[in-house]
Amino acid sequence: MLEDIEEILITEKEIKKKVKELGKKISKKYAGKELVLVSILRGGAFFLADLARNITIPVSIDFIAVSSYGTSTKSTGVVKLIKDLEESIENKDILVIEDIIDTGLTLRYLLKNLQARNPASLNVCALLDKSVRRIVEIPILFKGFDIPDVFVVGYGLDYDQKYRNLPFIGVLKPEVFLRKGE
Ligand code: IMP
Ligand code: MG
Repeated sequence: MLEDIEEILITEKEIKKKVKELGKKISKKYAGKELVLVSILRGGAFFLADLARNITIPVSIDFIAVSSYGTSTKSTGVVKLIKDLEESIENKDILVIEDIIDTGLTLRYLLKNLQARNPASLNVCALLDKSVRRIVEIPILFKGFDIPDVFVVGYGLDYDQKYRNLPFIGVLKPEVFLRKGE
């Protein structure tokens, strides 16, 4: 697995530090509120698990899964809901926990879908922001890192369902895509 990584972009230590900071900010912002962390499966689950443990106010968690059509490295914006939330979010404060925002198309769909359920508030916390590739604007209330236009894996992020379990965020070697013909 490690032999497929070109370079480590964000180390395990840097992620830990950032997640701690984000947890602190979120705890402060939502003190006294009924906060629900909504994570997008599957990549967002890693970030959510660490983030939740750094939040010091009571929270509940819920999961949603979407599939976006396209190849493993490019999304098309055509999104389908494949697993819905378990609980109602009406009148609750919702923070969507996403691993990475690329074009923004996936989140645009999801935010529209969640907003229609009348939450008290709806915001986004993203670990990574690949803003140079943004097609639709997405307001990000809490952000981990800005990254350049490279395809990254690890800490929940996959290529072809692999590399999610790497503890850092790394850039994949180009020959790995070429092997698959992308
Ligand atoms: P968007 O709709 O283009 O913003 O794409 C968001 C989704 O694409 C993310 O939730 C990831 O699943 C996937 N994605 C985008 N960029 C990367 C990357 O560099 N590595 C792994 N997955 C990515
Ligand atoms: Mg994702």
